[in-house]
Amino acid sequence: MDYQIVLLPGDGIGPEIVAEAVKVLEAVGKKFGHHFHFETLLMGGCSIDAYGVPLTDEVLEKAKAADAVLLGAVGGKVGNSDWYNRPPKERPEAGLLAIRKGMGLFTNIRPAYLYPELKDRCPLRSDIIGDGFDLVIMRELTGGLYFGERHTEVVDGVRQATDTLVYNENEIRRIAIKAFDIAMKRRKKVSSVDKANVLDSSRLWRAVVEEVAKDYPEVELEHVLVDNAAMQLVKNPGQFDVILTENMFGDILSDEASEVTGSIGMLSSASLGAGKNGLYEPSHGSAPDIAGLSIANPIATILSAAMLLRYSLDLDKEADAVEEAVRKVLHDGYRTPDIYSEGCIKLSTTQMGDRICEAI
Ligand code: IPM
Ligand code: MG
Repeated sequence: MDYQIVLLPGDGIGPEIVAEAVKVLEAVGKKFGHHFHFETLLMGGCSIDAYGVPLTDEVLEKAKAADAVLLGAVGGKVGNSDWYNRPPKERPEAGLLAIRKGMGLFTNIRPAYLYPELKDRCPLRSDIIGDGFDLVIMRELTGGLYFGERHTEVVDGVRQATDTLVYNENEIRRIAIKAFDIAMKRRKKVSSVDKANVLDSSRLWRAVVEEVAKDYPEVELEHVLVDNAAMQLVKNPGQFDVILTENMFGDILSDEASEVTGSIGMLSSASLGAGKNGLYEPSHGSAPDIAGLSIANPIATILSAAMLLRYSLDLDKEADAVEEAVRKVLHDGYRTPDIYSEGCIKLSTTQMGDRICEAI
């Protein structure tokens, strides 16, 4: 089959890690007889440099028309670049928010899994990790604080800033349904994370999640307050199967969960809407401090490409092959510097991509 894939390498380490994921997709194409047609476009800081805006209408239209979009990372050092001397809507991150909104990608899936090979990289004590953990964070992606009205003003001579957190029941229901659907294919447990002891939006969240749960009698539902959830993730991550949460809580908890897997360089993500098209990106950022050094870990992006094969193209066998190849390479002791431990073989970004291609 032929597939159209838009590549948005972005900034910092983005181009390096996307290049490795493309190599892997090409290896998959060769092995399984698919043709992936790649079109590389600009988004983020590089788009500001070229066009003065972080996302052009043309790029958004091409992304919408593609079978899937693979993204590296956007942004640079905050406060240390021309990109940040502009209004918030014109900064690199605004491009990412605009493409998520523009493509209608309300579901963000972020799996966090502890590879047995990386147990010694996990910052938690081995008695806490036990047999490891395998959880997925289902983060609402196009609502909440990220998209509410915001402004900064001066009131009676005092500077004041406002951000608004708005959710309607439809926005909550559609992400909750996705979370319960995923739970049905896993260990059938949903932990819905909110701050219902304080926020109205969380009380509505809880009520709607309860309603959705009635259609999934086999799934165990628990409600966890976000502060407690942050603590439980380092106290006993193995208790979680599917974590369902709103945009900002999901942003924070997914970074925490990724670090517990040993490195944020391992965590993939998929952003989906109502249709098949999706945006796939590592959960980590653009890491400008290590850009160009070929030491970035491309595995999160390669695993995101596996999610692309699975969710947007329905190529399950091919996705399995990529995930299996990553496992084999880790098992054989190959590591990028972020996941290196003594006795292993240290690889650069491109060498890691090559090893994974060979294993496919
Ligand atoms: C993420 C990132 C983004 C977010 C930033 C870059 C806007 O942190 O994908 O988790 O907060 O969603
Ligand atoms: Mg984040």
